[in-house]
Amino acid sequence: MNIEHIGIAVASLDEALEAYRDCLGLDVSGREEVEEQGVRVAMLPVGDSRIELLEPTRPESTVARFLAKRGPGIHHLALRVDDLEDSLRRLKAAGVRLIDESPRPGAGNSRIAFIHPSSMNGVLLELVEHGE
Ligand code: CO
Repeated sequence: MNIEHIGIAVASLDEALEAYRDCLGLDVSGREEVEEQGVRVAMLPVGDSRIELLEPTRPESTVARFLAKRGPGIHHLALRVDDLEDSLRRLKAAGVRLIDESPRPGAGNSRIAFIHPSSMNGVLLELVEHGE
C-alpha cells in the first residue's frame, strides 16, 4: 500500500495551477473530467505520489458541497491497493463505515471507493486500484 494521491478541493483549477504548477514548479501529468463524480481533475506528480486538484463541475457534487462548507483545502487521502474488492470486504467485516460498498470508476482508468471519515479519524479515505 502506498499514498496514491492527496486530493485538494479548489474553486478554480486554473487559479490553483498558478500556485502548484507555476509557483511551486510541479508538472501536470493529466487533466480530465470525471463526470460521475462531478469534478474536473488535474494530476501533479510528486515523487511516486501525486497531488490531485479537484474543481467541481456542478453545485451538488461532493466537492462543491465541501467547498461551500469548509472552503478550499485538503479533501481526501488516497491509498493504492492491489485488490479493491478484497480491501472493501475486509474493511466491511471489520465494521468500518464505507461510502462505496463496491468499486466505482475513477480518473485515468482506475477503480475507486471511498471510506467514511467517521471511521478514519476525520479523514475521507479513498482506495484506488489501478487498471491495466
Ligand atoms: Co482522489
